[in-house]
Amino acid sequence: MPNAVVMTGYGPPEVLKWAAVRMPEPGEGQIRIKVKAAGVGPTDLDMRAGYLKDEFPLPPNAVLGFESAGTVDAVGRGVTGTSTGDAVAALLFSVGGYAEYAVASIWTHKPDTVSWIDAAALPTSGEVAIRALRQLNVTSGETLLLFGGGGSVGIIATQLAVAQGVKVISAVGEALARELGATPVRYGAGLADRVRALGAVDAVLDAAGKGVLADAIALAGGPERVITLSDPAAADFGVMLSGPDHDRAPGALDETIALLADGRLRLRAHITMPIQQAAEAHRQLESGNVRERIILTVD
Ligand SMILES: NC(=O)c1ccc[n+]([C@@H]2O[C@H](COP(=O)([O-])OP(=O)(O)OC[C@H]3O[C@@H](n4cnc5c(N)ncnc54)[C@H](OP(=O)(O)O)[C@@H]3O)[C@@H](O)[C@H]2O)c1
Repeated sequence: MPNAVVMTGYGPPEVLKWAAVRMPEPGEGQIRIKVKAAGVGPTDLDMRAGYLKDEFPLPPNAVLGFESAGTVDAVGRGVTGTSTGDAVAALLFSVGGYAEYAVASIWTHKPDTVSWIDAAALPTSGEVAIRALRQLNVTSGETLLLFGGGGSVGIIATQLAVAQGVKVISAVGEALARELGATPVRYGAGLADRVRALGAVDAVLDAAGKGVLADAIALAGGPERVITLSDPAAADFGVMLSGPDHDRAPGALDETIALLADGRLRLRAHITMPIQQAAEAHRQLESGNVRERIILTVD
């Protein structure tokens, strides 16, 4: 039997245990991946702690992880264009990435020039960045204010928007914002005035979820072109909370992995840890001791 990081209940990082599990079988239109690397995201921490158990209930012994990269090990009925041995990066809307084997419905082929680690770090953030920009419908010449511009999603969203000719004002450290082609603005008290001093805002992407919606609405002139990825107060503000249950972004993985392969997309810095240390990875992320993303690796 293969192993996976099993969630033995909701709670602290210690609920994550490396344990034997049944081999997952790909259904129609699915592939099974022999995982080489799996991304850990902020949503995983919230799910493990039980904060999302109403929105995203998990069965007993669930395996977390929305993204992984590896080689195709089996294909389900109806799969075309992909065969065993192919290198892929996958988005796992039904989770299961922290495992030696994972089943995926959405994947893209991994070019040789993209590392397994980068391929595992891309799917969630790449899909969300493309989805949110499409939902906001920002166009060349417009100004986008981005909260969380230094995060995994924000870094990608900044580069994609700048490449489309959008002016990005990014609430993030100055050096990074400028490197990515955005105008930096310091977040925290007084942000709205600092943004107004830079000019009018057409749309806002909140990829931080830290209580910025009142400012966002004031700056965008209403909630219509404000999107948050995680603020639970979204409905109170009449703002769209963009989740994977909304329009997914077809083609997002193909588009972003091609940019990565060409060196035209940069990801948030990440470090690796062996998958058996998933609990320690969660512990370190929660403690705030690690500034980078963590990608779990499988030998
Ligand atoms: N809805 C979906 O489908 C979906 C999918 C993936 C992720 N998410 C959510 O989207 C959010 C971003 O994900 P991520 O992977 O990009 O997270 P991340 O890499 O942890 O980035 C979050 C960023 O927010 C910044 N930040 C914190 N407080 C802020 C504030 N008050 N104003 C502006 N920026 C602030 C942080 O900056 P510092 O480093 O300076 O603290 C950090 O760079 C998370 O809440 C995640 O749960 C949602």
